[in-house]
Amino acid sequence: MSRKSKELAKLIRERAGEAPVRLGLVLGSGLGHLAEAGNGTAIAYEELDGFPHAGVSGHNPKLVIAELEGVRLAIFGGRAHYYESGRADAMRLPLEVLRELGADSVLLTNAAGSLRADFPPGRLMLLEDHINFAGINPLIGEASDRRFVPMTQAYDPEIRKALRAAAHEEGMVLREGVYAWFSGPSFETPAEIRAIRELGADAVGMSTVPEVILARFLGLRVGAISVITNMAAGMSDEPISHEQTKAMAPIGAEKLEKILRRYLRGL
Ligand code: HPA
Repeated sequence: MSRKSKELAKLIRERAGEAPVRLGLVLGSGLGHLAEAGNGTAIAYEELDGFPHAGVSGHNPKLVIAELEGVRLAIFGGRAHYYESGRADAMRLPLEVLRELGADSVLLTNAAGSLRADFPPGRLMLLEDHINFAGINPLIGEASDRRFVPMTQAYDPEIRKALRAAAHEEGMVLREGVYAWFSGPSFETPAEIRAIRELGADAVGMSTVPEVILARFLGLRVGAISVITNMAAGMSDEPISHEQTKAMAPIGAEKLEKILRRYLRGL
C-alpha cells in the first residue's frame, strides 16, 4: 500500500472515527444519491489529495463513512473513468485507502446498456464475469510479480450468492450476466454491440472493469451490479444518451438500495 494511502486513511479516521470499515461501495452514474443514505461523515474528494476529480454529471464526488444496517461502510459517491484522463488506474488510490481503512471487500455499481431483450431498462444485472474489450489494464507499469493477478472468479462467488439471496428476500430475481468494458466516452456502434453479443456479453459499460482488476490486485473481494439504463446501440429505436442514463438510473437505484440493505443485514 502506498504512503499516500496511509496518510489519507489517517486523515479519514481523524474525521470519521477510528472504527474499521467493513466494506466499500462505489456508486455509478446516476446512483450518486445513495451516498446520502445513512448518517455518515462526508469528505469531498477535493479534500483528499490524489483522489480523482470525478467530473461526470450524475456522480457525487465525495467519500462518506457511514453505518448502514449496522455495517460500517466507505461509500464512494463517484468514480473516475478511464475516458476522463486516459489513466486506467485512476481509482487505485481510493481502493488502496479502502483497504487501509480495514475493508476486505468492495461492491461496485454502474449504469450499463443491455444486450439482452430479457434485461430491459430499469433491471439490475449481477456481474458474473467480464470481457475487457477496452484492452487496457490498470496494472500496466506495475513492477512486481503481483501484477499477474488471476481473474478467475474475480466476482466473488460467496458475495454473488449472498446478493442473489438478498434480492430473493426482497421479492426480486437478480439475474447474472457478463459485462463488457468499452473505454467510451463515445457510445458503441451497433456493429460493436452485435460483435460482443456474439462473444458472450450481456451488458456493456464504460467503467468497473479496471476497478475489479485493481481490487483483486489489492486483495479485496468483489461484487458488482449493473443498473440497466438502456438497450445497447442498435437494439432499440430510442436514441442513446447520457441523459437517458441519468434518467433511468434512479429507477434501478431504488431496487439496488433494497438489495444492498438486505445484504448488509445478512453480514
Ligand atoms: N454503453 C456504454 N455505457 C453505458 C451504456 C451503454 O449503452 N449505458 C450506460 N452506460
